[in-house]
Amino acid sequence: MKKISASILSADFSKLENEIKEIESAGTDIIHCDIMDGHFVPNISFGPYIVNKVNDVTTLPIDVHLMINHPEKYINEFHKAGANYISVHFENNIHLNRLINQIKDLGIFSGVVINPSTPVAFLKDIVQITDYVLIMSVNPGFGGQKFIEGSISKIKELKSLIQDRNPNCLIEVDGGINLENIKKVSDAGVDIIVAGASIFSSRDKGTTIKKMKILIK
Ligand code: DX5
Ligand code: ZN
Repeated sequence: MKKISASILSADFSKLENEIKEIESAGTDIIHCDIMDGHFVPNISFGPYIVNKVNDVTTLPIDVHLMINHPEKYINEFHKAGANYISVHFENNIHLNRLINQIKDLGIFSGVVINPSTPVAFLKDIVQITDYVLIMSVNPGFGGQKFIEGSISKIKELKSLIQDRNPNCLIEVDGGINLENIKKVSDAGVDIIVAGASIFSSRDKGTTIKKMKILIK
């Protein structure tokens, strides 16, 4: 069953609990938390304190996407805050193998993320040990950007790489996904679909999620 991971980056933080309850009751599978440090990406978002508060108000699994330098310093804190999935970027981490093992040792899902300009082939020697790969379909840093079409062929390429090297590895895609393109993204072979602005900016968030779930069935 394919899953929807709702990115709270575009939620109204003045009523975060209500926003989360609303999407949870509509059938959201996972809560996606975008962590930005103003260095690896141009924006700053939030840290483990907020992730912990999110964890207090939901029973859904929490998917932490780290867009920060030196993630090794913060992985334990995010785990303690309630993260069930933690992903780190390929581009700013030289010792990825060590980093992925650090996450796996905590007994949670470990993922590697690639930016739109990073080739799928670069994952050849890491995909064996990751639980999931996250393909960015926008340049990381902001919600509400336009989906980059070339991501579809990257998903297909990744699918064939993991079939060869680690068939249990899941594929997640993140950025610019909405009711118009979600079916195409899903059909390319993804397991987890992140959506932020298209859910939180819609008039009826619950209906948007329900429609998305039908389209990815
Ligand atoms: C971008 C983040 C995404 C973003 C997705 O840097 O990683 O998770 O919040 O949001 P939308 O769906 O608005 O592109
Ligand atoms: Zn994200």
